[in-house]
Amino acid sequence: MDRRYEGKVVIVTGAAGGIGLAAVERFANEGAQVVAVDLAGSALDEAQARADAAGASVLTVTADVTKSSEVEGYVKAAVERFGGVDVLFNNAGIEGWVGPSTEYPEDIFDKVLAVNVKGVWLGMKQVVPEMRKRGGGAIVNTSSVAGLGATATIFAYGASKHAVIGMTKSAAIEFAGDGIRTNAVCPSPIETRMMRSLERGINPDAPEAVHDNMARTNPMGRYGEPAEVAALVAYLCSDEASYVNGAIVTVDGGSRAR
Ligand SMILES: NC(=O)c1ccc[n+]([C@@H]2O[C@H](COP(=O)([O-])OP(=O)(O)OC[C@H]3O[C@@H](n4cnc5c(N)ncnc54)[C@H](O)[C@@H]3O)[C@@H](O)[C@H]2O)c1
Repeated sequence: MDRRYEGKVVIVTGAAGGIGLAAVERFANEGAQVVAVDLAGSALDEAQARADAAGASVLTVTADVTKSSEVEGYVKAAVERFGGVDVLFNNAGIEGWVGPSTEYPEDIFDKVLAVNVKGVWLGMKQVVPEMRKRGGGAIVNTSSVAGLGATATIFAYGASKHAVIGMTKSAAIEFAGDGIRTNAVCPSPIETRMMRSLERGINPDAPEAVHDNMARTNPMGRYGEPAEVAALVAYLCSDEASYVNGAIVTVDGGSRAR
């Protein structure tokens, strides 16, 4: 594997989850110093173990991305431990509730917007000043194919992922002059805890049938793997993508090609 991240400091949020964990592993294997951020109680031990196995330096930080003081805290921890920040993979997210928008619980709507929208904004807000000190950097925000089209049964999630695309485009223009590139990835169903939860939400009696149907209707006949998203993120944040800015990139087996 290439070592594109030697000497680079990379922050990954949602680092205990399926995609975040794969990203920690990928960046670590490419030589990065990794700051793995997730909620208290989440299994950051696994992120630590995977980075250790790659021989990388890793710092695990417990933080809620919806709280500005805690976002400030994870950026400060990265600077104190590794001297700065080069990359932010702004990836923490929640799925919310499955059902009609007219019955959507207001508290869950607020929570989804807080994590998936405000959390992404706060991450960029705190990290950009540090990237400016380094003369540049790269940010990837995790949107979804749900940010590109209708998602009637996951109303707040769809709204939040459309918002991530809007923020990504604005940031790409605002920070380009600072040498900071901002892009978004749009995965389709990836084999993680989140999809297990959504499958149960769609059909509590037969979640496996939901899985099989979604896999079958994908042009490639399957879900994606977290590592397949991580590979794209590692490219977008690398110098190989030096002219890629404001891109909204699907990693979906072709589902949005329809
Ligand atoms: N799995 C998919 O099919 C899929 C598809 C498209 C987009 N996504 C997006 O990918 C990202 C990662 O999802 P995943 O599939 O790995 O799910 P996951 O549930 O396995 O991981 C999400 C992680 O985010 C963390 N998190 C949640 N709220 C947080 C908060 N307030 N502060 C800090 N951390 C918090 C969770 O603890 C968890 O470890 C999410 O933004 C999700 O919306 C996933």
